[in-house]
Amino acid sequence: MPKRRATLRGAALREPTLSGRLALITGANRGIGLAIARALALEGCNLVITGRDERALAKARIELEKLQRERLPAKLHAHVLAQSCDVRSPDSVDYLFTLVRGLRKPLDILINNAGIGHPNLAVGELPYPTWMEVIDTNLNGLFLTTVAALAVMKRGGTIVNNLSIAAERVFAGSAAYNASKHGALGFTDTLREELRPKGIRVIALMPGATDTAIWNTLWPKAPRRKMMSAEAVARTVVSALLLPDNTTAEKIVLRPSIGTL
Ligand SMILES: NC(=O)c1ccc[n+]([C@@H]2O[C@H](COP(=O)([O-])OP(=O)(O)OC[C@H]3O[C@@H](n4cnc5c(N)ncnc54)[C@H](OP(=O)(O)O)[C@@H]3O)[C@@H](O)[C@H]2O)c1
Repeated sequence: MPKRRATLRGAALREPTLSGRLALITGANRGIGLAIARALALEGCNLVITGRDERALAKARIELEKLQRERLPAKLHAHVLAQSCDVRSPDSVDYLFTLVRGLRKPLDILINNAGIGHPNLAVGELPYPTWMEVIDTNLNGLFLTTVAALAVMKRGGTIVNNLSIAAERVFAGSAAYNASKHGALGFTDTLREELRPKGIRVIALMPGATDTAIWNTLWPKAPRRKMMSAEAVARTVVSALLLPDNTTAEKIVLRPSIGTL
């Protein structure tokens, strides 16, 4: 059982389990990335959050700092660095990791979460720029942030790649998304084998339909109420991070429990 602390503003405080760890989350200004950032903030992590939309990122930073202020004892409040970064751009990723190195701490947790979908279009209708943008974000971006992170990670670190169930199965009309996520799974599985001897865990996170803004592009009329919440995905990520050092969840597949989504 986790230790209970004295109460602050009436809320029962739990000893955070990842206190002082440094976690970087890409695409953390909304959706699943922000939900993971919230969950890690409550576990006492120092956070680096990224995304392209600077206003949304600044709002997320304020929210995460408030969450820690309200829910964690003062001595456990952690640092939240919000830096805009486009994962498709080597320069942008380089700059982000210059700031990470400036924190003078090893990176304990990397959550590769930034990703985009595209409108439902058959292959013959799919514009090349759309194909390129999706592959660039979901696959090339994953490569760029991972390579940069490896230079600042040590034994005991964990990399979580947010893929999708589309990494293993396909959805008609989503060729670029399916291809990017299948490629990302191949990358993730290779990375895991390379990092196993170095004691860095690599987790393929494969959620099914989760209620976020990505559906505005993928399928605007999708039945959101049947989907999982981003918070449920985030809770699962934290559980995997808390497994004993000699144990890893290599692949996490999550599906809504009702219906076919
Ligand atoms: N929702 C689902 O049903 C579902 C299921 C399985 C897997 N996933 C995966 O979960 C991840 C998060 O998606 P979500 O559902 O939370 O969607 P979302 O709400 O649209 O969030 C996507 C995030 O990625 C960021 N992003 C997009 N392009 C980027 C770029 N070039 N550089 C940096 N950041 C970028 C966005 O911020 P900016 O736009 O500000 O850059 C945003 O923070 C994606 O990889 C997605 O494929 C989602």
